Order: sequence, then C-alpha cells, then structure tokens
Amino acid sequence: MVKLRSNEVFKPGTFPKYTYVYRKSSDFGFTYELRLKQALNTPGYLTSIIGPSKTGKTVLCEKVIGIDNAVSLTGSDLKHGLDFWEIIAKKVGLSIKGEYSEMIKVRGNDYTPEDRSVINREEYISSKDKIIQYFKENNLVLVLDDFHYAPEELQLDIAYQLKDAIRREFKAVVIALPHRADDAIRKNPDLSGRLNLINIEPWKESELKEIAVIGFEKLGVQINNGFASKMAMESLTSPQLMQSICLNLSLIINIDEDENIKELKDQEKLEESYRFTTINLPYKEVVKKLEAGPYTRGQKRKRYELANTNGEKVDIYSLLLKAIAQDPPIISISLEEIKQRVDQLTLISQERIDRKKIRDALQKIHDIMLSSESIYQVFEWKDNQIYILDPLFLFYLRWRAN
Ligand SMILES: Nc1ncnc2c1ncn2[C@@H]1O[C@H](COP(=O)(O)OP(=O)(O)OP(=O)(O)O)[C@@H](O)[C@H]1O
Ligand SMILES: [Mg+2]
Repeated sequence: MVKLRSNEVFKPGTFPKYTYVYRKSSDFGFTYELRLKQALNTPGYLTSIIGPSKTGKTVLCEKVIGIDNAVSLTGSDLKHGLDFWEIIAKKVGLSIKGEYSEMIKVRGNDYTPEDRSVINREEYISSKDKIIQYFKENNLVLVLDDFHYAPEELQLDIAYQLKDAIRREFKAVVIALPHRADDAIRKNPDLSGRLNLINIEPWKESELKEIAVIGFEKLGVQINNGFASKMAMESLTSPQLMQSICLNLSLIINIDEDENIKELKDQEKLEESYRFTTINLPYKEVVKKLEAGPYTRGQKRKRYELANTNGEKVDIYSLLLKAIAQDPPIISISLEEIKQRVDQLTLISQERIDRKKIRDALQKIHDIMLSSESIYQVFEWKDNQIYILDPLFLFYLRWRAN
C-alpha cells in the first residue's frame, strides 16, 4: 500500500476524503448525512441547510450527493439580468437559445398527412422544462450554495422559480448562513409546507478530536487522547481549523519523510504548529484596529502595567484583547470572566479596573466592528457577554506572533 501524505489526509480547504467525520445532530438524533438523504428522497420538497460559516455545509452536500450528481451554483453566480434557468443550463452544458428553443416532433417520422397540422402547431419546450427533465433523467441535484451572496432582490424570485420546479420533482438544496440570510426561503409563505430544514450545529470537542484521531491513524502515527483534546479545544468549533492544525503539525514534525515518528507527544511542537497556523490567517489589521480603540483626538489614555512582564504597559483596549485571548479558549465569555482575567493580567498594586470601564470599552470595540467591513465582525458584545463569532479570530489572537 502506498503511504498517504499528510496533505492528502488533512484538507482544511476542500473535501476531506480520509478525515471525513460523521456527526449526529442533537436536534433529531440522526447523522446529518442520513437526514440529507431523507430530505432528498422526499419529492416535492426543497431542502434548506443553514449553519455557521465553515461548519461543513458544502462538504456535507458533496458527501451525500456526490460530485457527479451535484450541480453547484453559488449565490454570487446569480446576477441581475441573467435568467436563472439559463445559468443552470450553461452549468450542465445544455444548449438552450432564448426562452423557447426546441420544437418537439409530436409523433416522430411516421406521421400521416392529418398529423401535419399537429406538427405545425409547433409545440415548444421551455428551457426550464428541459432542465427539469434533464435533472430528473440524470438524477441531478441543484446545490445553491452561499445563497446569502445572491442579490437580495433576486432571492425571492429564485425562491418562486424553485417552488414551481420542486413541485415537478426537481431536486434542490439551498445553503446559507444563519440570520435572515435565507428568509426568502424559510419565511416564504409560498414554500411553507414544502421545506426540509436542516440546521448545522457548531462542532463539539469530541467531534473535532475525531479528525485528528482518524487522520493520524491513516498516517500511521499514534495520537493520545490528551493531545487530541488539546487540539480540539484550540480549534474551538472549527473543523477547518482542526484540519489546518493537523496539517501544520505534520509539516513541522516532518511526518511524511521521517519514518521514525510513531507517536505524537511533543507539546512544544504542537504549540509551534499553532503559531505556524496563524500565518495564513487574515486578522493582522483587525487586531490592530480593535487594539487601537476609538479615535481620541490626541488625548492620552490611561495605561495599565501588566503583571509578569518587565513593566510593560497597555491601554484598556489592548488589555481587553489580551483578556479575550487568555486560557481557556471559549466561545462565549461573561463580563465576570473578563473582569477576572483583566485582574489577573494587571499588576495588583495599581487601581483595579471596574466593570463599568470594561463594559464601556467593550461597547466601543463593538461599535468599531459594526462600522467596519465584515471581516472585522469577530465578536459580539451583548447582554454583558462576549460571543466569539469567528473562531479563527480567537485562535489568531491566542497564537499570533507578537
Ligand atoms: N464532516 C467533516 N469532517 C471533517 N472535516 C470537515 C467536515 N466538514 C467540514 N470539514 C472541514 O471544514 C472545512 C470547511 O467545510 P465547508 O467548506 O463545507 O464549510 P461551509 O459550512 O460550507 O463553509 P462556508 O460557510 O464558508 O461556505 C472543510 O474543507 C474541511 O476541512
Ligand atoms: Mg460552503
């Protein structure tokens, strides 16, 4: 047997053939794969998948539908002035010119003169009919990925097109991020009673662990439980991050070339691979902007001396980011927890920073994020709680080079 290479096993950006993990939904107690199969097996229904970014929505469809049977479009393929069905036809290589293109011969060649009038009536098949037929004959499924990228004004129209098509046993899956992104589908009264809803939940630590366990086993290397748990904890809820960490760890310990590696145990190498993983993450400017805090018109901010340093001083904004980055990495952090972390980080001999000051500063950071581009929206500050929206950001914050 040919030995697999680590970059065949760990696939942070594409379909993980060797490290695919089956997950059960706590919602319905079956695997997502079985649920999607059931959904596709119900003619007349449209399937709507929603889930947070990078939780495996696209990969799930690829697994269940298979590359040969899926016809994938993304929301950004859909543009004004382009006919929805024409875009699909192009994708599958069906030639249709204009809206009505093909004349059907009603009875083939053996027609009698009386049939002539029937033929001359020129029955046409519309491009839409033709596509629906083609999809059914070839057992194809339309996967409309990242529906939230479709122009909002087009979303309703597409929902309407799909409604009609699914009634005629056309199979389609619409994938979107949560929050309103697919209201055109889920809240559309025309589609109510005709929807299969699948909500992808965030990954649990035990599921993330499986990626490392299965993958390193494929590479012939033992990984102990504690080691895998640590990696899963750092990955927060992101299977993609887990795949990246595993891949980078493999590179750092030279797993593909070094025959002597039989077991993973070096914690230092693990931490090195975390730092190595941050290199590809695009948060440098984000951190810089959030650390800078709001514009102060030249006024100097109070600075706090950090404990366990050589007198290093930072202002409240940098301090809060440091607090967010502390152990343990968690996805929602309460004001109490932040206050504790801030107290631990700062030198005891100074005046303590009170909760109000922390809250006000977090609100200001929140405002900066809201008025910036989407990459800056890395956490939410709401009801005295920080909710990390982007697990990769927290990972970056923890392991970036300083
Ligand atoms: N079931 C799985 N088993 C193992 N790894 C997975 C699984 N699902 C996803 N991943 C990892 O996560 C990565 C991202 O998955 P995917 O692209 O499907 O997410 P997504 O939800 O479609 O993201 P986006 O919202 O950005 O479209 C995959 O490339 C893979 O590395
Ligand atoms: Mg996707």
